[in-house]
Amino acid sequence: MTETLNIKVTKATSSKLAGVDFDNLPFGKTFSDHMLTADYADGEWKNFEILPFGDIGLSPAISALHYGQAFFEGLKAYKHADGKISVFRPEKNAARFNKSAERLCMPALPEEFFIQSIAAIVDMDRNWVPTKENYTLYIRPFMFATDPYLGVAPSSTYKFMVLLGPTGPYFSKNLKVKIETEYTRASEGGFGFAKAAGNYGGSMLPAKKAMEQGFDQLIWTDAKTHEYVEEMGAANVMFVIDGKLVTPSTRDTILNGVTRESIIQLAKDFGMEVEERRVSVKEVLEAIANGACTDAFGAGTAATIAQVAEIVHEGKTYTLPNPSESVFAVKMRKALDDIKYGRVEDVKGWNF
Ligand code: COI
Repeated sequence: MTETLNIKVTKATSSKLAGVDFDNLPFGKTFSDHMLTADYADGEWKNFEILPFGDIGLSPAISALHYGQAFFEGLKAYKHADGKISVFRPEKNAARFNKSAERLCMPALPEEFFIQSIAAIVDMDRNWVPTKENYTLYIRPFMFATDPYLGVAPSSTYKFMVLLGPTGPYFSKNLKVKIETEYTRASEGGFGFAKAAGNYGGSMLPAKKAMEQGFDQLIWTDAKTHEYVEEMGAANVMFVIDGKLVTPSTRDTILNGVTRESIIQLAKDFGMEVEERRVSVKEVLEAIANGACTDAFGAGTAATIAQVAEIVHEGKTYTLPNPSESVFAVKMRKALDDIKYGRVEDVKGWNF
């Protein structure tokens, strides 16, 4: 039987909502009135609490700060025309949350606690879900180690938190990307499949260097040979080649993205062939050069479908067909949005 969480609620005495410019919402900068916190100690999760968004006091010795026992999830809430609010496939994030926890030697959070926490905090700040097309309430659950201990060992105490922030599109243009052949994001046996904080920290220098060279994003390649495509920025990467949807198969270096998986299912519904396999850089570049590759895009919760205009590999530029005329990406974005915003019947039961 599902255990119902007892969540203590302390409401903010005033709301910041009136001061928010809902027409100008860069990703990740605006937070709602409340947040959720919970503690893990003595082998159990307790103290679930919704309280006003604000600073939290922590020891400077907590092991999350020193050894990176920390990870997160990302999902979104959508407002439907009838005022209902849905969250897209939160059970997928709940399951992946625990995969990350396991790999980082952190405690699992029962999936029903994850879902109930998200439902409670989104319900509390339901007025923060934007109404404008392409705008959503981004949900950021995360967990980190809180033992004040500098020994390299798993913590015995942890915090689980959920923050909310209204946001516009993550990318505002089609992307010029570089195929990264020097740095790597993840290696075999590592934890690229987990949403570990360190995966993102380690990606910043290569991304900064690429941006200084005029690129918007990186396409990550495998650590051993740099011959195979793995991910794009903080998203999965997908291509349409010879009319088939082609994407790197998930493995320990690749995140099992919810958007990725949803696109694969919808593409199959469209009657399209889908290939999840190793995808070589050579194959992609040849397919762009000979016109067989019609689409390249990043797929993620924050990014949704982020189309690529140009790919550069070792100084040579490969230009994709005009992304705004892409049949696939445009159709897929609409199909996903129609479900998420409740404009079509949710036959798959993806909206919570
Ligand atoms: C998400 O899509 O939620 C992500 O994890 C990307 C984030 C790091 C901006």
